[in-house]
Amino acid sequence: MAEDGVIQELAAAVERSPDMVELRLHLATLLVERERFAEALSHCSAILAQDAGHAGALSLLQRCSAALSGQTSPGATDGNFDWTAAEKEVADIVKPAFVEEPGVAVNENDFDAVQRSSVRLADIAGMDAVKKQLELSLLGPIRNPELMRAYRVSARGGLLLYGPPGCGKTFIAKAVSGELGANFYQVGIADVLSRWLGESEHSIRAIFDNARRNAPCVLFFDELDALGHRRSALSGSAGLRTVVNALLEELDSATSNNDGVYVLGATNAPWDVDAALRRPGRFDRMIFVPLPDAEARAAIAKLHLQDRPVEAINLVSVAKRTDGFSGADLAHMCDTATQLAMADSLRSGQVRPVQMSDIEAALAQIRPSTGPWFETARNVVEFSNRDGTYDELAKYLRRMKFR
Ligand SMILES: Nc1ncnc2c1ncn2[C@@H]1O[C@H](COP(=O)(O)OP(=O)(O)O)[C@@H](O)[C@H]1O
Ligand SMILES: [Mg+2]
Repeated sequence: MAEDGVIQELAAAVERSPDMVELRLHLATLLVERERFAEALSHCSAILAQDAGHAGALSLLQRCSAALSGQTSPGATDGNFDWTAAEKEVADIVKPAFVEEPGVAVNENDFDAVQRSSVRLADIAGMDAVKKQLELSLLGPIRNPELMRAYRVSARGGLLLYGPPGCGKTFIAKAVSGELGANFYQVGIADVLSRWLGESEHSIRAIFDNARRNAPCVLFFDELDALGHRRSALSGSAGLRTVVNALLEELDSATSNNDGVYVLGATNAPWDVDAALRRPGRFDRMIFVPLPDAEARAAIAKLHLQDRPVEAINLVSVAKRTDGFSGADLAHMCDTATQLAMADSLRSGQVRPVQMSDIEAALAQIRPSTGPWFETARNVVEFSNRDGTYDELAKYLRRMKFR
C-alpha cells in the first residue's frame, strides 16, 4: 500500500534526523490516522522529550492515550480530568473559562498582531489585592468618566505591572483589555529593538498609530526593562536613546489625548526601567504582581495539566504544597510529572495517566526559582526605595518573612 510506503519513508527519514520535530510530528499524525497508536505515542514522547510544551505533540499524545485506554471522546478537556471529591470545590472556584483564546486578529502589521481578548478579571484565580487595585486605579476611573471629571482626576499615564517572572502579568494585561472591551495589542520591546535596529524609532511611531487605528485598545509593552541602560546590549548607544525618546514622545501624546489608547507595561525588573519612562504621565503607576496564592496556583496547575491524561489529581493538595512557586515553576513541575508518567508508559507499553505520585516525585526535584529575583528585590527595597516607589513590594517582603 502506497500510504504505508510513505510511513516507511518518513520513519527512515526521522531515524536519520531524529531532531526534526515537525517531520516526526507528521509521521506521528499519519500513524494515528492509521490507528497505530502505540507507535505514534512513542514519537510524541520523543518530541516532548525535546520540547516539553510542544502543543501538537501534546494533543496527539492525548488522542493516542485516549484511544489506547479505550476512551470514546478524545479532545474533551474537563472530561479527561478525574476529579477527587475535594477537587470539585476548586473546580467551581477556578472558572472553566480561564483558558486563553487565541484571539481574533483585527489588524496586523509587520511584527505584532492586535487581538480581541476574551479574558476577564474573573478568569484570574486568586490575586484579590491585584484585582482590587486594578479596579481602583484603572478600570473604575475609565468606566466612570463623569466621576473622574467631578473629582478632577485624570486617567493620564500608563500602568506598570511588575513582579517575578511567570506570575500572570501578561495574563492580567489581557484581562484588563477584556474588561474594557478593548483590543489587545502586545508589543515585546526586546523584539522591537532587535528586529528593527536602526529603524526602531520609526517602528515605535507605527505601533502607536496602529493602536489608535484599533481604539479602544490596550497597548501592552512587555519587557519594558529591555530599554533600560543597565540591561540593554545597546547601552549608551545613541540608537537606544533615540528609541527611548520616541517612546516618551508617543507616550506623552497618547496619554494626554483622549483617543482610547490605554498604555500598560510589564517588567520583571522595574529597577532597570529607564527612569524617564516612569515620570508623571508615563508609566507613573505601578502594581506589584506577587507570587500566585493557593487559588492561583491551583488554577495554573490545572491549566498545565488539562490537556494531558491525568487521574485523581488533587489540586488542593498541589496548591498547598507549592507555596513559593511561580507560575513558571508550576509549569515546570507539571511537565516533569508528565514526563515521569510517560517514561513509565513507555517502559510498560501501557498508557498510564499522570497521577499524584508523579507530582510528588516532581516536587521532590523542583525548588522555587524566584530566589534570585527576591534577593534583588530585597536589595532594592533596602537601598533604593527612598521615594517609596517600592513600598508595596516592601510590605509584601515583610509579610513573606513571617510566613
Ligand atoms: N492568577 C492566575 N489565574 C489563572 N491563570 C494564571 C494566573 N496567573 C498566571 N496564570 C497562567 O499562567 C500563565 C503565565 O503567566 P504570564 O501572564 O505569562 O506571566 P508573566 O507575564 O508574569 O511572566 C498565563 O498565561 C496564565 O494562563
Ligand atoms: Mg509575560
